[in-house]
Amino acid sequence: MLLEHALAVVTGGSSGIGFATAERFMSEGARVVISGRNPDRLGQAAEKLGENVLGVVADATSPEDMHRLYKTAVDHFQCNVTVVVANAGVSRQTPVRETSWEQFSSVLNDNVGAVYATVRESLPFLGRPASIILVASLAANQGTKNFSAYCASKAAVVSLAKSFAAEFVEDDIRVNSISPGVANTPIFDTLGISEAQLLQWSNAIPMKRPAHPDEIAAAILFLASDASRYMTGADLAVDGGMSGISPF
Ligand SMILES: NC(=O)c1ccc[n+]([C@@H]2O[C@H](COP(=O)([O-])OP(=O)(O)OC[C@H]3O[C@@H](n4cnc5c(N)ncnc54)[C@H](OP(=O)(O)O)[C@@H]3O)[C@@H](O)[C@H]2O)c1
Repeated sequence: MLLEHALAVVTGGSSGIGFATAERFMSEGARVVISGRNPDRLGQAAEKLGENVLGVVADATSPEDMHRLYKTAVDHFQCNVTVVVANAGVSRQTPVRETSWEQFSSVLNDNVGAVYATVRESLPFLGRPASIILVASLAANQGTKNFSAYCASKAAVVSLAKSFAAEFVEDDIRVNSISPGVANTPIFDTLGISEAQLLQWSNAIPMKRPAHPDEIAAAILFLASDASRYMTGADLAVDGGMSGISPF
């Protein structure tokens, strides 16, 4: 059991990568708190996960909500939090000519502000050693047409992981980021991307298929566990070869 005695908080645990991560963590003995904004979806996810899980409705962009989430977690399970997965995030198409300042700012707040609040508010509630994992994206390092706000937000997430790691290294708190390529989750339902475009993306992946969310969760588990104890400030690519293999 890789996470026996762990108490893990997974933001955005009601869907996709977050849900798969909660499932993995629980199968390794962790107690898990999942969060999301939609209460129905969160309730269904918590019910599916079974015992040793708590669902807390909380907006990751709100420091007040995040403080309440950690306090609820610690009070409920009567121990400190040892793993934080800052996973909640959104993806939006933002063609530069058609994107308002408010739309740009909202993507940055949903993906960067949320990570900042998730990590900062966790600090008073963390046990030692602790592991924090920020979910970034392959998009952090690749300019993508119509996705400048998303790409910039994920570059900021990779950067935050490195600075947080530097700031907390002496406190026995490790911080790493993970960069998935394309994973098969509901995030694409709201993106307005055609089946043809998705197929084109899949064909561009050296492994010729998107990831199953559990394949991303397996890498998050590694970063959460003692198996990665000598890693901090790193970004782990889990992308079917997209970042490492030339298309030529
Ligand atoms: N899927 C991919 O191909 C891919 C690739 C690279 C990176 N990622 C990153 O992986 C993470 C998870 O994505 P996913 O694909 O699993 O997406 P998903 O299936 O759409 O799940 C997103 C989760 O985040 C929650 N969420 C979003 N904003 C939130 C907020 N402000 N506060 C609390 N919860 C919030 C959602 O619940 P509510 O809507 O109910 O709040 C949901 O539970 C994201 O950060 C995404 O950018 C995904």
